[in-house]
Amino acid sequence: MTESLTVELANRSYPIHFNGALSKLASTIKELRKGKNNVCVIADIGSHGAHPNFLIQAGFLESEILVLPSGEKTKSIECLNQSLRFLAKNNLNRDSALFAFGGGVIGDLAGFTAASYLRGIDFYQIPTTLLSMVDSSVGGKTGINLPEGKNLVGAFWQPKAVFIVTELLQTLPMREFSAGMAEVIKYGMLADKSLFCELESSDFFDTQTPSLPSIIRRCCAIKAQVVTNDETETAISGGRALLNLGHSFAHAIENVAGYGVYLHGEAVAIGLILATELSVKLGQIKESEISRVRAIIESNALPTTLKDPLSISDLMQALQRDKKNRNGKLRFVTMQAIGKAITSEDVDSQMTEMIWTRAGAK
Ligand SMILES: NC(=O)c1ccc[n+]([C@@H]2O[C@H](COP(=O)([O-])OP(=O)(O)OC[C@H]3O[C@@H](n4cnc5c(N)ncnc54)[C@H](O)[C@@H]3O)[C@@H](O)[C@H]2O)c1
Repeated sequence: MTESLTVELANRSYPIHFNGALSKLASTIKELRKGKNNVCVIADIGSHGAHPNFLIQAGFLESEILVLPSGEKTKSIECLNQSLRFLAKNNLNRDSALFAFGGGVIGDLAGFTAASYLRGIDFYQIPTTLLSMVDSSVGGKTGINLPEGKNLVGAFWQPKAVFIVTELLQTLPMREFSAGMAEVIKYGMLADKSLFCELESSDFFDTQTPSLPSIIRRCCAIKAQVVTNDETETAISGGRALLNLGHSFAHAIENVAGYGVYLHGEAVAIGLILATELSVKLGQIKESEISRVRAIIESNALPTTLKDPLSISDLMQALQRDKKNRNGKLRFVTMQAIGKAITSEDVDSQMTEMIWTRAGAK
């Protein structure tokens, strides 16, 4: 099995380490220290609490670790302020490096901290959730939320390396693991039919599933390829936007239900079903594909419909604010076939309203 793969971005290319990632991490820290480069790490209290010796064993000093609360609220101006001041107090300079130890929340916050401190210092990702291993730690999207909305402030800031230590997942709560599976299912639907079929033929995935490390690698390979081709999501059609299959619906659900009611991956699971329904309505795939997608989502303990009905008009308003829309028209990622996503422009709002009823919206 490959030990690492590279995200090809010319002089900003970087490796994602799999096998032996822990020793690669330790040697990277040692190298940085040899060059007299200060290091700091921002850690999630959940990951740090579950693995209290990990960072010290990797080579960090206690004084270099900032532990922040877990949860979406940590992606805030207040925690950004705390993080920037921690770097300043630790005398980090332009040759210093910041590491993130946690899931997507800490990765996004620490990445943006690294992007903005001294106009940008080196950044490394140590993802600890399934979602961050297969998705958020790769690709360089960083940012925080405002009370007005999610990810409204941010920057593209690629890491120098990503260290994927799958053993860290042993302590991940099952609900969080399932949320990460939603992104895995998404990759099968958008770019890898054989991954989709593999998921379809397995009852259930958990941290003990022997094929999990290779599935994580496959997802990272897909993301790396897409990011190489369209790093800042500027392609006229297709491109990086395809990674958002199901996400327009998901972001609307999270926004209208209130952040925290659904885990991001749970909202994505419902969004994947709705994106499949939309693909059927647009005549792109057969109706029978809906039950295939639904079955995989159900077998991974993910929701297929809303917990409580949400208002269709609120959901439609949230959809209008989606970053993928162009010229005020609704734009979705749909499927031409399982394993082949496309962007669909100018989707009819009446059709979209009808799709929402399939999830139980009123
Ligand atoms: N930048 C990107 O490209 C990108 C992509 C997808 C999602 N995201 C962002 O990622 C965030 C969601 O990330 P997430 O799903 O990883 O959630 P998260 O970072 O909130 O972590 C989930 C929970 O798991 C706990 N945890 C983490 N690792 C653990 C471990 N090994 N053992 C025990 N507990 C552990 C945390 O304390 C937290 O309570 C959202 O803010 C979303 O916007 C970013």
